[in-house]
Amino acid sequence: MDLFEYQAKELFAKHGVPVLDSAVIGTAEEARAIAAGWGGRAVVKAQVKVGGRGKAGGVKLASDPDDAVAEAGQILGMDIKGHTVHKVMLAETADIKDEYYVSFLLDRTNRTFLAMASVEGGVEIEVVAVENPEALARVAVDPNEGVTETKAREIVEAAKFPADVADQIVEVLKSLWKVFIAEDALLVEVNPLVKTGDGKIVALDGKVSLDENAGFRQPGHLAFRDSAGADPLEARAAAKGLNYVKLDGGVGIIGNGAGLVMSTLDVVARAGARPANFLDIGGGASAQVMADGLDVILGDPDVRAVFVNVFGGITACDAVADGIVQALASLPALTKPLVVRLDGNNAELGRRILAEAALPLVELVDSMDAAAERAAALTLAAQV
Ligand SMILES: Nc1ncnc2c1ncn2[C@@H]1O[C@H](COP(=O)(O)OP(=O)(O)OP(=O)(O)O)[C@@H](O)[C@H]1O
Ligand SMILES: [Mg+2]
Repeated sequence: MDLFEYQAKELFAKHGVPVLDSAVIGTAEEARAIAAGWGGRAVVKAQVKVGGRGKAGGVKLASDPDDAVAEAGQILGMDIKGHTVHKVMLAETADIKDEYYVSFLLDRTNRTFLAMASVEGGVEIEVVAVENPEALARVAVDPNEGVTETKAREIVEAAKFPADVADQIVEVLKSLWKVFIAEDALLVEVNPLVKTGDGKIVALDGKVSLDENAGFRQPGHLAFRDSAGADPLEARAAAKGLNYVKLDGGVGIIGNGAGLVMSTLDVVARAGARPANFLDIGGGASAQVMADGLDVILGDPDVRAVFVNVFGGITACDAVADGIVQALASLPALTKPLVVRLDGNNAELGRRILAEAALPLVELVDSMDAAAERAAALTLAAQV
């Protein structure tokens, strides 16, 4: 779960990463008093979960309270790469002398944590990584040891931070590591981390992505859930305990078990179509779970055809067939074709239930490949 900048900075402050005073507002007029409280000057920043806000016009410097209201008014409601700005953050202005970059993240490829740091922060770090890779230091962090004083010094040396800020950056790295571990984050990033005119180091921007798998031991993170920004179908699926993932094609996919669902995505792609989403009904799914899954998948307006691919193990195919019949009886008239492949435990019985129900728009196909091809063909036909 990605956080907004203001939420990331709450976590920074909680663990001792230096940040400037800031406030979040939803209406422009609120900016006046806040900016006045800082002597008139303020930075006005769009709160959206997407990078490159500054370049898109979502970060502006206001020179007096009127200006702060005007800039906030401009930025609120703005669309940044498809994200509408509902909130802006006002922050004290910093007198910037230098902009650096630091982050910690999970390095899946090397099965460890990774620290990245650069004295060339502020600009897009992806560009630095590609055009000037030596300027972006990468230091592995052993999860059992963490960022000790020694490790923090190693990172500072690898990135060649100037001597006058080295001690402060060591402290920032240790505090940022606390954010990373204590909050169960997958990424903590500061870009830019700045040196101010009076030689202080502060985090001017913050990006944090939390590991939702650790949600059970992070009750405080519930408050970060962004219901306004969540996909309503994802919310509906989550409420029913289903694993649903939205994609960008036209074939709706339901399967049982992560492995089968992943290979279903592959066969659909090989058949020349793209999945609109996928939903894993898991092992031992009941008719009700199947019905709930179908309800979610059919609710996705991008779906042109649905491919139900079930290999019965613990899940019995007759329960799946009952679920399909039950779902189609309770849902509004089916307008999208459904291709069903049932195999394994009680497949014969499941197929018979569907055949006898003689549901319009429901087709039984014997093999996974043939079913994928049929679903792909129906999807492509529905697009023209
Ligand atoms: N409080 C501040 N005072 C002065 N300048 C600031 C302040 N906050 C940001 N800036 C300037 O604006 C630039 C962009 O700000 P920021 O990093 O927050 O947004 P961004 O990088 O454009 O957005 P994103 O992180 O979404 O890509 C910074 O590199 C810095 O130069
Ligand atoms: Mg930034």
